[in-house]
Amino acid sequence: MKNVLIAGNWKSNKTTLEAKQWLQEWNIQLSNNPIIQWKNMTVVLCVPYTLLYMMKQEIDRLKLPIDLGAQDVSPFAQGAYTGEVNARQIKELAQWVIIGHSERRKNFHETDEVLAQKTSQAKLEGLSVLYCVPDDITLVPAGVDAVAYEPVWAIGTGKSDSPQNAQQVIQSIKSKTHVFCVIYGGSVTPDNVAAFMTQPAIDGVLPGGASLDAQKFSSLIENATSIPS
Ligand code: PGA
Repeated sequence: MKNVLIAGNWKSNKTTLEAKQWLQEWNIQLSNNPIIQWKNMTVVLCVPYTLLYMMKQEIDRLKLPIDLGAQDVSPFAQGAYTGEVNARQIKELAQWVIIGHSERRKNFHETDEVLAQKTSQAKLEGLSVLYCVPDDITLVPAGVDAVAYEPVWAIGTGKSDSPQNAQQVIQSIKSKTHVFCVIYGGSVTPDNVAAFMTQPAIDGVLPGGASLDAQKFSSLIENATSIPS
């Protein structure tokens, strides 16, 4: 059985109250779903900075099988960088960080160079890096722990890539980067997740919209893991 990484990306969504409600719902879903095979699986939830502290407390208290992630990190260490949150601060609350999401590349003009700086800051502090690329030709900095292949046209559109094409691109990313864990993102749902997971090179998925609802996210995980290995 392969090791599976499922990373939910909440993007810029949810207040503290909404996040608490999500966790309560998730907790109920878990108790109703004893068949989920947690062995060989890492579930990461990448949430806004403002939610990390509360979510860490709640996840610890309820002993939920979720790792936390941030969705960005400063390219600098601590210091006079107004508005930035640095890797050392994130490490207090989370294990993972998403770097290079296409929404950041596009809306915040993040370049390969700045993304490489962010990666090295994250690695200096021991964060695991989930690095997003839109194709198999975009640069992947050394040291990243997992790569997410996310074609821009598939993000938030309801039109996912075909599992066969995702398999091919991911195979190519693996051969070029030597990163062992490469996942697919872009309109992943509880209904299509199994088709991606049955592809041999695909190690997991990065759902955005489908992670916002605890019930949907838990069915997605169930469907991802109930495929024959
Ligand atoms: P989506 O987002 O699942 O809503 O398409 C995926 C992502 O942007 O990470």
